[in-house]
Amino acid sequence: MTTPLTILGLESSCDDTAAAVLRMARPGQAEVLSSVVHGQGDLHAAFGGVVPEIAARAHAEKLDHAVREALTQADIGLDCIDAIAVTAGPGLIGGVLAGVMCAKGLAAGAGLPLVGVNHLAGHALTPRLTDGVPYPYLALLVSGGHCQLLQVRGPDNFTRLGGTIDDAPGEAFDKVARLLGLPQPGGPEVERAAKAGHAGRFAFPRPLLDRPGCDMSFSGLKTAVLRARDRIVAEKGGLTRTDRADICAGFQAAVADVLAEKTRRALAIHTEGLCGRTVLAVAGGVAANTAIRAGLETVSAEFGADFVAPPLALCTDNAAMIAYAGAELYAAGRRDDMTLAARPRWPLDAGQPALLGGGRKGAKA
Ligand code: KG4
Ligand code: ZN
Repeated sequence: MTTPLTILGLESSCDDTAAAVLRMARPGQAEVLSSVVHGQGDLHAAFGGVVPEIAARAHAEKLDHAVREALTQADIGLDCIDAIAVTAGPGLIGGVLAGVMCAKGLAAGAGLPLVGVNHLAGHALTPRLTDGVPYPYLALLVSGGHCQLLQVRGPDNFTRLGGTIDDAPGEAFDKVARLLGLPQPGGPEVERAAKAGHAGRFAFPRPLLDRPGCDMSFSGLKTAVLRARDRIVAEKGGLTRTDRADICAGFQAAVADVLAEKTRRALAIHTEGLCGRTVLAVAGGVAANTAIRAGLETVSAEFGADFVAPPLALCTDNAAMIAYAGAELYAAGRRDDMTLAARPRWPLDAGQPALLGGGRKGAKA
């Protein structure tokens, strides 16, 4: 391997078209030279969710522009790139295909090696990119499309300790916002409303806390919010600002409790027999939530673990994380070729059964 490695990364598995250039001096030490993200929020806004066909077409139109911008911002040509890393799954298949085809074209045209990256590995390895976190560590991925607790031991070595069996937490935040007439994306709106609310007014459930293990469920919680809303509307004819705030506070507290307790159980498993300090890292848009973060920090402290939350721009979907994961895989000898397939489902931990649930943002691996 030549060091440092300069990698071009491409990401198009959901509703962000992204390209990035990254330089990795050695695994655990890298610098983002450019990171371009074109969101598709406007294209899907009228439909209340991501429309796969619209997403795929927009990716196909935007990818080469994003690549050009990333190279320009990094002030680098393709001749200085060592390899091309691309999200090859899991995600909405049309978008993943657009990215894989673009990467294959670039690799063939420039004679560069190709590395297919699992999108979830990109998220899970981000703490190494941002904070140089050493293996092994525990990662909690919480976004609009993902919810998994993973032991991370290497760029291709993950053990899934648990995950959602239905909705992802961000998806639940978005649905609750919709139920209450708040704008999208719902997470920040629900958090804002919750600040003025009393979490104790509604006894929302903490799904699956009564069962052992680290799996989670958020869809029943969303139904409980729907029932509470309908009860108030039936009694009073509508929701006041206070009702809305109390529902948001109660819902947020329930999500925070579930995430904290399931993470506590995962940390207990992860730290058993481990010498020295370890790290609990979070990634995904929901990690921006102050109450959820505070709960996770408390749990982390209980185990004497360091808490790492990468900056939001690298927590949400981006191509720098794909370039980074690709760099570690490339350094470990991984090479793909023109047979690289786009995969709608791609569990990080092949030893575990697939998690259920389609979800707003496509298949959960
Ligand atoms: O990681 P992300 O940008 O995209 C993917 O889902 O892949 O996460 C977006 C999700 C949305 O569902 C959004 O409502 C949620 O993260 N989110 C939040 C907050 N900020 C964003 N959820 C709760 N509290 C927040 N402050
Ligand atoms: Zn993601």
